[in-house]
Amino acid sequence: MTQTTLAEKSLRGDRVIQATIVAYIILFLFAKQTDGLAHAGSWAFLVLGTIILLIFLGLMIYNLSPFHPLHSFPGPLIFRSTNFAMLYIVYTGRRHLFIARLHEKYGNFVRIGPNKLSILSGDAFHTIYASAKGFDKSLAYRPGHFPDTGLFFLRKREEHSNRRKAWAGAFNPAMLVPSALQNVVDLRISSMDSFASRVLQDRSNQMIELLKRSEGCVLDFGTILARWSYDVMGDLTFGQGQSFELLKGGDQNGIIQNGQKAMVVFDILGEIPAILDILWYLPATREIHCLERLAEKKLQDWKCKPSNGPELLYHLVQKTGEGDDGNQLLILDTVLAIQAGSDTIAGVLTLTIYHLLANQDVYQKLTQELDEYYLHEQEINVSSLLKLPYLTAVIWEGLRLGTPLPGLPRIIPKGGATISGSYVPGKTIVSVPVYAHQTSKGNFSPEPLSFRPGRWLQGGLGPDSVLDSSAMICFSSGAQSI
Ligand code: HEM
Repeated sequence: MTQTTLAEKSLRGDRVIQATIVAYIILFLFAKQTDGLAHAGSWAFLVLGTIILLIFLGLMIYNLSPFHPLHSFPGPLIFRSTNFAMLYIVYTGRRHLFIARLHEKYGNFVRIGPNKLSILSGDAFHTIYASAKGFDKSLAYRPGHFPDTGLFFLRKREEHSNRRKAWAGAFNPAMLVPSALQNVVDLRISSMDSFASRVLQDRSNQMIELLKRSEGCVLDFGTILARWSYDVMGDLTFGQGQSFELLKGGDQNGIIQNGQKAMVVFDILGEIPAILDILWYLPATREIHCLERLAEKKLQDWKCKPSNGPELLYHLVQKTGEGDDGNQLLILDTVLAIQAGSDTIAGVLTLTIYHLLANQDVYQKLTQELDEYYLHEQEINVSSLLKLPYLTAVIWEGLRLGTPLPGLPRIIPKGGATISGSYVPGKTIVSVPVYAHQTSKGNFSPEPLSFRPGRWLQGGLGPDSVLDSSAMICFSSGAQSI
């Protein structure tokens, strides 16, 4: 058994419920024999309830005691004693702000769960994610009762990197995630003739047409952007013309809403993955399979009329085995591609547009740059847009404040590791809080919490301006990022 396998063992929530029911039946039968039927049910309930409560309290006391391996790390009492506290915070949607505040109070290392540390440091980011010896993903990535075979769900780095080879032909990471600001223009221009830029151009034209037709009406631009991004990702995944056509026909199947629900469920229950095992059986979680069912249908359609690429599915099919397992893997990976690409982009764009409208000076500057560069609307295309410095600055600023993913949980292998100069025991779940890092004064100042694209331009926001572009960790880094 490898080190990481040992570190990964966890309770399955549904097995715990099964064991509890069996324990209840045994207690009930015992009570019935000794005390008769009248009180057997309530007696068994009381005894079992008391045992469960005692176990729960015992665990909380142990988590707070000096015997716990993370005892020396600071953090709020309730968070050190139980994971339910952070689960609640995630549920409120304010985790990023809450964790940033905790770091202001407690410093770079904060214990945010009995077995979890949030570490605010560029050094830690390198050790945990970016380095060749970065750590495996935690159990938060276990997808309920799905087989954990899809790229995103493969927690061990070796298995992940094997599956990643199947994706290599379709996605050029440099095109999607420029690693440093100064490289952004060159890298992106080189990919301009690509399939992706054609898809972007066509879908954006379609969106503009839709906006023009709706002139004078009230539109929810967030919804339009979400439809645009799902259509773009559908094209990239299944091929142009094979997408969901949400811009054209609306979201009849509730793909967007259900996809977002799935993200929320995984995010919240990632704090206590065992709960997902239990909720999996409830009708409420069925909706999160909506995109999966659609992907299955698209896969069947594609297989009836296979193409020679360049869409993602073509590349994945080449490297995926036949049969039910192969099909399941293709469905999971295509769902991942669509969800990973659309929800993130739609969220960041919606927030960036909000900031533009809330900061009229920025809005004016951006429209001025566009008006000076383009005489006619028809001249606008992806490659020339990428040459505009102020637009690029606006996008980076939008990503800085609107980073869609929180700290990504990784597990320390048995034996522990030294992170940012401190020893962290094995099996600890660690993460670097993305929002806190991207809004820390040490990395971006002045006004780290304000939308000031000027900080990205030469001269920044004045002589004391600080901008550390390596602190932009929203795309993560290393083998498990794209
Ligand atoms: C605002 C834009 C985006 C941000 C901030 C973002 C961020 C991230 C991050 C942080 C991860 C690592 C997740 C983890 O380890 O848990 C990731 C993974 C991934 N992203 Fe994105 N992403 C964005 C857009 C996209 C787009 C447009 C695509 C597709 C075209 C995409 C496809 C993927 C895929 C496939 C993975 C999984 C990679 C793997 O496990 O090897 N993302 N993304």
